[in-house]
Amino acid sequence: MTILITGATGLIGTQLSAELIRQGHTIHYLTTNVDKLSHEPNYKGFLWSLIDSSIDDRCFEDVNAIIHLVGATVAKSWTEQYKQTILESRVTSIRLITDRLKIIPHSVNHFVSASGVSIYPSSIDDRFNESSDVQGTGFLASVVVAWEVAADQIATLGISVTKVRTGVVFSKKGSALQKIALPVKYYVGSPLGSGKQWLSWIHLDDICGVYTHILDNKIAGIVNAVAPKPVNNAQLTNIIGEALGKAIILPNVPRFVLKALLGERASLVLDSQYVEPQKLEQTGYYFKYPEIQEAVNDLLS
Ligand SMILES: NC(=O)c1ccc[n+]([C@@H]2O[C@H](COP(=O)([O-])OP(=O)(O)OC[C@H]3O[C@@H](n4cnc5c(N)ncnc54)[C@H](OP(=O)(O)O)[C@@H]3O)[C@@H](O)[C@H]2O)c1
Repeated sequence: MTILITGATGLIGTQLSAELIRQGHTIHYLTTNVDKLSHEPNYKGFLWSLIDSSIDDRCFEDVNAIIHLVGATVAKSWTEQYKQTILESRVTSIRLITDRLKIIPHSVNHFVSASGVSIYPSSIDDRFNESSDVQGTGFLASVVVAWEVAADQIATLGISVTKVRTGVVFSKKGSALQKIALPVKYYVGSPLGSGKQWLSWIHLDDICGVYTHILDNKIAGIVNAVAPKPVNNAQLTNIIGEALGKAIILPNVPRFVLKALLGERASLVLDSQYVEPQKLEQTGYYFKYPEIQEAVNDLLS
């Protein structure tokens, strides 16, 4: 089938596009960057702009499913202006697509949107699955709520909607894993805060596998895209140390230091979400990397 991907040029989109092409699908993708346009028969780029609300309608030709991966990175400094960019890149982009689908003839029947596990409250003790009807209170939680509300609007057009609540994606290059591993490499890595906070993570191969599983099985609603076993911050630091052959010698970095250094963004490393992939397990998704140790060994070797 023909699949339209937004954010196809990013970390997940690049590998996912290659995998879907390998499976015989044709990819159309929307990019804001003219230099990223490609015109291969099974990988065609089209321009859009969130600033002037423009979109090349040819991107929708013969498209059956849309995968929405656009999102300004949360790793940059959270100024008030940049926080707006984080929100708008996710929400305005969906509205732009919704507005076009309302008025042009199309064959889209499935809209699969990225979402985030930071919608769940921060808790060391609680576990969250797709039935957990609770929401966090911080900035990221508010972004994810608005993102999912915008995605749900597409359902009013008679299109099936899936929201992929994604944990932190670990990959060989350019992911959070490298940021966590860097100080460990130079013997200055240590657990953050209490070290007890849970990190719900997923290997890049698996997040791509999850998207294809959702398309193949036409799964709708909320899907938690996380490995079955989250890891806490202290365990992860030690596992990375072992994989790199570096001892963890420094004491934990106190919470107040992280807050002073990172401000509101400290929530990225201090919040705790133990998330369970109940729907993936119920629908028979087979994790290539269910265990953190194997994932870290694969990615840092
Ligand atoms: N990676 C993770 O750990 C993780 C975890 C949870 C959720 N997610 C979500 O999954 C999605 C994909 O993640 P990813 O890591 O693959 O993303 P990514 O590599 O950071 O980038 C995705 C794409 O978004 C587009 N983009 C970035 N800023 C934009 C802006 N201000 N306006 C319009 N487009 C913009 C870019 O496409 P063009 O340059 O081609 O326009 C970029 O290639 C994101 O929505 C992300 O929030 C990711």
